[in-house]
Amino acid sequence: MSSPEPREPLKFAYWVPNVSGGLVVSKIEQRTDWSLEYNVKLAQLAEVNGFDYALSQVRYMAGYGAAYQHESTSISLAIALATQRLKVIAAVHPGLWQPGVLAKLVASSDQYTGGRFCVNVVSGWFKDEFTKLGEPWLEHGERYRRSEEFIRYLREIWTNDHAELNGDFYRLHDFDLKPKPVEVEGRAHPEIFMGGNSTDARGMGGRVADWYFMNGNTPDGIAEQVQDVRDVATVHGRSVKFGVNGFMVARDTDAEAYAVLDEIIAKADVEAVEGFGSAVTQAGRSTGDKKGMWQDSEFKDLVQYNDGFRTGLVGTPEQIARRILEYKAVGADLMLLGFLHFQEEVEYFGREVLPIVRELEALELERV
Ligand SMILES: Cc1cc2nc3c(=O)[nH]c(=O)nc-3n(C[C@H](O)[C@H](O)[C@H](O)COP(=O)(O)O)c2cc1C
Repeated sequence: MSSPEPREPLKFAYWVPNVSGGLVVSKIEQRTDWSLEYNVKLAQLAEVNGFDYALSQVRYMAGYGAAYQHESTSISLAIALATQRLKVIAAVHPGLWQPGVLAKLVASSDQYTGGRFCVNVVSGWFKDEFTKLGEPWLEHGERYRRSEEFIRYLREIWTNDHAELNGDFYRLHDFDLKPKPVEVEGRAHPEIFMGGNSTDARGMGGRVADWYFMNGNTPDGIAEQVQDVRDVATVHGRSVKFGVNGFMVARDTDAEAYAVLDEIIAKADVEAVEGFGSAVTQAGRSTGDKKGMWQDSEFKDLVQYNDGFRTGLVGTPEQIARRILEYKAVGADLMLLGFLHFQEEVEYFGREVLPIVRELEALELERV
């Protein structure tokens, strides 16, 4: 299945390492640090190496690695203020935020950054995080129903001077948010991303999200989800853009790259990976059709939190660039990347991989 519209150049996002331990649950050396200083320098490198977006993670407490965590909206703002062009995407949990308070925070942050603030609405898999904070853990379908209402609320309050919403979870009564987010051509309000892959997530994505993020998967696995979400979006007269997660190990030879991947998995923190594997059964696997993130993840997949090895971005720059184009062909608009040694590899990506991606995209255009 190829995408019907004329395709824009692929966009690139990177995972902000705002929790300790990096993006793999492994005892391998990671020259990545979760500190603000490291993250500011990383963001500055990323924006001159072809990255459009920086996605932070929301984690309130330790579990399965990630012993320390920076809060996602604050680190996103700090990063945006230290850069010129990079857009930041702050992950947020409905259920832990009152949406009007978040809408206000985003509107202010959007003002400070000239329209570079976005949100990633995540419905949650980490039950302990909610119960230890004293909040109820809703059943899967209810979590998504709440997330959908949360997104409708954000859109309403950002765009309407007399915002009204009478929902099951949230309410608004003739509310006029001032200031509103910045007016930016091409967007009605700060972009709303979501993360999730279950049947509930796909329905919500098609109905209300601007962007739908997927865990790592094969091109066929991605194509199947893209089709589902597009079908829902079409019924609702909308269009949705798609982001695919991948953990990139690009090296001068493919032998070197695969040796790194093998070492990451061989040095996995077994106890943490198994604990994580058990916690994420709260996601799509807890539903009737058992579809969703981590539905069939094996031990080695779970060593990367978001199944990033499955995307197969391992090898030489040329091999990886070709693989990236396969994802574009099945509907990806954006690749979300994680790395072992973030600062070094973001530069390697910009220098060695991205130029080949752009060449291949240009060749593709000539063929059309
Ligand atoms: C790209 C991406 C980023 C995510 N980031 C977070 C996060 O920062 N914090 C979090 O608790 N969950 C995060 N999630 C997980 C979602 O909240 C949700 O629990 C997960 O997608 C389960 O989906 P499912 O139940 O639809 O299968 C993310 C998911 C994706 C795809």
